[in-house]
Amino acid sequence: MNFESIVPMSYILATVLFILALGGLSNQETARRGNWYGITGMAIALIATILGVVTAQYTILLVALLIGGSIGLFAASRVQMTQMPELVAILHSLVGVAAVAVGYVNFMDPTEHLTGVELTIHDIETYLGVLIGAVTFSGSVIAFGKLSGRISGNPLALPARHWLNLGLLLAAIWFGREFVLQSAAGGGMQPLIIMTVIALLFGIHMVMAIGGADMPVVVSMLNSYSGWAASATGFMLGNDLLIVTGALVGSSGAILSYIMCRAMNRKFLAVIAGGFGTGGGAPAAAGGGEDQGEVVPVDPIETAELLSNAKEVMIIPGYGMAVAQAQHTVFEITKTLREKGVNVRFGIHPVAGRMPGHMNVLLAEAKVPYDIVYEMDEINEDFPDVDVSVVIGANDIVNPSALTDPDSPIAGMPVLECWKGKTSIVLKRSMATGYAGVQNPLFFLDNTRMLFGDAKATLDEVLKNL
Ligand code: TAP
Repeated sequence: MNFESIVPMSYILATVLFILALGGLSNQETARRGNWYGITGMAIALIATILGVVTAQYTILLVALLIGGSIGLFAASRVQMTQMPELVAILHSLVGVAAVAVGYVNFMDPTEHLTGVELTIHDIETYLGVLIGAVTFSGSVIAFGKLSGRISGNPLALPARHWLNLGLLLAAIWFGREFVLQSAAGGGMQPLIIMTVIALLFGIHMVMAIGGADMPVVVSMLNSYSGWAASATGFMLGNDLLIVTGALVGSSGAILSYIMCRAMNRKFLAVIAGGFGTGGGAPAAAGGGEDQGEVVPVDPIETAELLSNAKEVMIIPGYGMAVAQAQHTVFEITKTLREKGVNVRFGIHPVAGRMPGHMNVLLAEAKVPYDIVYEMDEINEDFPDVDVSVVIGANDIVNPSALTDPDSPIAGMPVLECWKGKTSIVLKRSMATGYAGVQNPLFFLDNTRMLFGDAKATLDEVLKNL
């Protein structure tokens, strides 16, 4: 059988499945189906490539597939839900390093010997592929470090950092010109290596300069870069499916970055330039933990009473719910309250948790009905009618100082305005700050009660008392 003839058909089918996957993933109810479209598309793409495109070295390919597949399986089965953002970041770095490797191999051992304009175009493809790949690689490694707490979330504010970035960019363009000229004369390795080092430094500097509160934009931006890196790899290998798939990931990542920027009221370029929203680069944690008065603690019994007597309850989950794995208890409480005739709704902030859609995934896992889960914009005006807001392990996303303190690292970010309701109950273990490193005036308000402890343990107690 001539496998080559079925490759283009399989690639078209895989492309359609990838587009259907993206469409499915844009809605909670169709997300599971979307995932299956993606998995099927990827399986078809892999099989078609192995059978129809690869012509030699099957042993190396199979060994590589086995090693890569086993590492992937192991990582996916071991990873905790709270570590997903780090895993995604480190996976992006692999796309980057693959683009760099393909670029170098393609340059050192070209499959076809091009000349003239064709060679110039191919050189530009290679140069851009290595450039985007190297930025994606080092940026993603730093993002991994920041998200996993191995590197401080504070922005690194080097003096004249914007000039440094501009200098690196101009140097990369100049070495690009050198690369194309030298490659035509049979050389070019030196400028390629120098540019790779510059791109690696640029990726490190770009992500190091971004403050904790702006990390959501960086995660989605690196997602987009990894797509463009894959697309560039597709150009270098002459693989249409890789070009299209990379472009899909690149553009959907770019749209996600835009949505994240809008959710946080940030300007994309300002975030990338670094230090935005941190007073020109002051560490986000500066003065973060100071007390602002007395807080009123509450226990699970009182919490259960407050909830039972309420008509309107709003649950606001945050990163702490993911840490405590409290989503199942949250669902049990929701069910119990609904049976008692209480109207329970969920308010989801776009950057709650540590990755886009983090809370939606957890609530879907616990089988919370989708029709009571609302986006921030849909319910923020309803808080004056809410009797009890239950803030579960959330901090930055309910911080009123985002609206009132222009010097706050999260200044300007829209937040869930639960303090406008009758009572807010905040579940957390201590008075520690959240990701942005700032204290939260909500905790000290007269109508706020603090339920201290691990969210799963305290909610289990609340459920018992309900
Ligand atoms: P945070 O502001 O980080 O607050 C989480 C709170 O949960 C902490 O104050 C912590 O207080 C509490 N907590 C932790 N473990 C807990 C447990 N086992 N039980 C009870 N409480 C627990 O989270 P948020 O409000 O969801 O806001 C998200 C933040 O992350 C934003 O600043 C956002 O910019 C940033 N971020 C988001 C993303 C995406 S894409 N969503 C990506 C990167 C960064 P205690 O230690 O006192 O318990």
